[in-house]
Amino acid sequence: MKQRVLAASNRGPVSYEFGADGMLTGQRGGGGLVAGVAEGLAALAPEAEVSWICAALSDADRAIARQRAADPEEPGAIPVRMLDIPPDTFDRAYNNVANSILWFVQHLLFDTPNQPRFGREFRRDWAAYLAYNEAFADAVAAEAAEGSAPLADVRALIQDYHLSLVPRLLRNKLGGAHADAGIAHFSHTPWAPPDYYRMLPVEVGRALLDGMLGADHVGFHAGRWADAFLDCCAAILGAQVSRADGGGADPAGRVFYRGHVTEVAVHPLGVNAPALRARARADDVRTHVAALGRAAGGRKLIVRVDRTEPSKNIVRGLTAYRELLAARPEWHGRVVHLAFAYPSRSAVPEYRAYTEQMRQIAAEITAEFGTPDWNPLILEVRDDYPRSLAACAVADVLLVNPLRDGMNLVAQEGPVLSERGCALVLSREAGAAATLGGDALLVNPYDVSETAAALHQALAMPDAERRRRTEALAATAAASPPARWLGDQLASLDR
Ligand code: F6P
Repeated sequence: MKQRVLAASNRGPVSYEFGADGMLTGQRGGGGLVAGVAEGLAALAPEAEVSWICAALSDADRAIARQRAADPEEPGAIPVRMLDIPPDTFDRAYNNVANSILWFVQHLLFDTPNQPRFGREFRRDWAAYLAYNEAFADAVAAEAAEGSAPLADVRALIQDYHLSLVPRLLRNKLGGAHADAGIAHFSHTPWAPPDYYRMLPVEVGRALLDGMLGADHVGFHAGRWADAFLDCCAAILGAQVSRADGGGADPAGRVFYRGHVTEVAVHPLGVNAPALRARARADDVRTHVAALGRAAGGRKLIVRVDRTEPSKNIVRGLTAYRELLAARPEWHGRVVHLAFAYPSRSAVPEYRAYTEQMRQIAAEITAEFGTPDWNPLILEVRDDYPRSLAACAVADVLLVNPLRDGMNLVAQEGPVLSERGCALVLSREAGAAATLGGDALLVNPYDVSETAAALHQALAMPDAERRRRTEALAATAAASPPARWLGDQLASLDR
């Protein structure tokens, strides 16, 4: 009997839009969560019955969800079930709670003298978040019952802060049979320390932890986030917590709460290096490699690729580049910064304002340093995956300086794709610093001068050292491919 593996996440592997001609076009879902789950499920598919439950994100997705035609018939594709959640409920749950509150808490992003403010409107948003989580729990329970595997062979892999309440809701819905079915939750974000987490309304902070503790296994990308979660369970819920004795062990600890034990573990997510390199050999990427080479005109390239996201710290990254050019005139005319930022969460006002700030400082840098023969900065705010891969391939320096990041995929993809060796300037606050820190140049993301100095060191690094570091970084990134990341979580559920 095949095991039945059900993944659930807000964003799925594909989202659709209606074109001007009324035709549907599909866009691959971006980011680490989608890459990890898609590749992990694909690797499992021969031995397990897999499916993926996600939210309909657009009107076109809703139309598809209604027809229940979301690709399951495509040969070799993972069956996807899109949930048609009422637009107002989805908007409140995704934009107002998940992205405007939970994301800001976990990334410590609030401008605290002014935000957050939890009033009556927030309570309405929170009710929508409950309904949205209920809809997911119902759908996962229905899928579990539909498959050919007995409930005991069902494994539910619930993803991220959008779905924090689902493990508990699902456990309740499965009833007595849950004892054998395995439920895991994985956070792709950091986790906040209790003193910051406590700013959530008491009932909300408790409900999120209680929801996740409905799982048998709770995973994080880095030991720091697992430890902070354990700290919150003890401080906020008064749960009994036991910890492994250090060394980044798996599991990091256990939480005993409401008569149930939840294992808390660390599963770093890396990349499928052979597949990524094969993708980068495709014609569309090669065309961009040639074009970016022409744009650089033989100069060194500092590359960054992010979503337009305040936690990615793009504005301080640009400020550091400005400081480098101001402090080190020897680089004038010899370096170009390619800053690629693809649009994200534009319904959230803070994201729109941040994108404007990025454009503003980029224009200032160009005005201050540009000459008729040298354009020091190319900022592109659009989603162009092949072009991003090409930029990573030709980078001499890769800048990844988030304020805080669950893992960070670009820091791992860059070295794997690099063609001539790239020095990685990496924030110590990214989960990836735990695995890549030894071969990267680590920086405090708030320290613009330190970041500028690291950019100089990276640009000046001898070729042999840059290549050696790149090979080591690529080997580390390749050591935790999605198939292993997902397989390890399933193995934990089977223990
Ligand atoms: O939790 C992190 C994450 O899910 C990433 O995997 C991805 O980069 C990002 O958030 C995607 O966010 P959204 O689905 O809101 O565009």
